[in-house]
Amino acid sequence: MYKILKAETLAAKIHLMVVHAPRVASHCQPGQFIIVKLDEKGERIPLTICDYDREEGTITIVFQEIGVSTIKMAELKAGDAFRDFVGPLGCPSEFVEEDIEELKKKKMVFVAGGVGTAPVYPQVKWLHEHGITADVILGAKTKDMVILEKELGEVSNLYVTTDDGSYGRAGMVTKTLEDLVTNEGKHYDVCVAIGPMIMMKFVCLLTKKLGIHTIVSMNPIMVDGTGMCGACRLQVGDEIKFACVDGPEFDGHLVDFDQAMKRSQMYKTEEGRALLKLQE
Ligand code: NAD
Ligand code: FES
Repeated sequence: MYKILKAETLAAKIHLMVVHAPRVASHCQPGQFIIVKLDEKGERIPLTICDYDREEGTITIVFQEIGVSTIKMAELKAGDAFRDFVGPLGCPSEFVEEDIEELKKKKMVFVAGGVGTAPVYPQVKWLHEHGITADVILGAKTKDMVILEKELGEVSNLYVTTDDGSYGRAGMVTKTLEDLVTNEGKHYDVCVAIGPMIMMKFVCLLTKKLGIHTIVSMNPIMVDGTGMCGACRLQVGDEIKFACVDGPEFDGHLVDFDQAMKRSQMYKTEEGRALLKLQE
């Protein structure tokens, strides 16, 4: 069993948990994810790692209530425990393997959308610990939905945007990215975009136009998380890739987002039925 040491709500339906999982904490790298199971018969839920503390043996996860399992998960409190907490899974971010001196020559911008802000944090923190301060564009629908602003502000040059203009810069993340590059003299070699698929699609269309190499983190439906079931398959260029073992990060200019979004829609009906059953 994996004990929950802390559970708090960051924004409406968005929760943070610190979980005691020393083996995962000792091995994980930025970009990787874990799969949790609430109980014996529970669904396997893939979640990106938001932070880790190797000394304390803890992993921080951030999740949004979007289906039956995550609604049940949100009811857990400090002191409760997960039946399974498997990881670290997937490949670390590519910069983790790069020569630090070469990496320091690159200008990096991270685009963090909504709950996708959580997996951006360990990447930017890792870079900061290695002497690199990246720019981060953090986008949320409204002021109340902005998460991890303080934490990201401490390790990056942070630009906050809200769709409704209630806080920070007004408009979607793509507007700020375009403004920074075309009107405010910024130059970037690499963009890392993590958030809803529609956001990553539009960031990629923009960065293609601006000539910026772009990495995205894909979170399709996953079942086993080990490359066996095929649920998480994606078209990347002319290849079929499995997000769980080949990713979750890919060259965003090669990902077929339309196909990935269509596949995730297929599961919506199934999820809707399960939700109705829970409410009965
Ligand atoms: P959201 O809908 O609030 O969007 C976040 C930001 O993305 C917006 O503020 C906006 O700036 C930008 N955005 C949205 N649509 C856009 C568009 N068409 N063009 C340009 N920018 C756009 O985000 P949310 O409700 O937190 O998203 C939840 C989704 O994120 C879920 O589907 C979840 O599965 C996904 N998610 C992805 C990851 C990942 O690793 N990729 C991690 C966590 C969550
Ligand atoms: Fe089964 Fe990736 S989740 S192959």
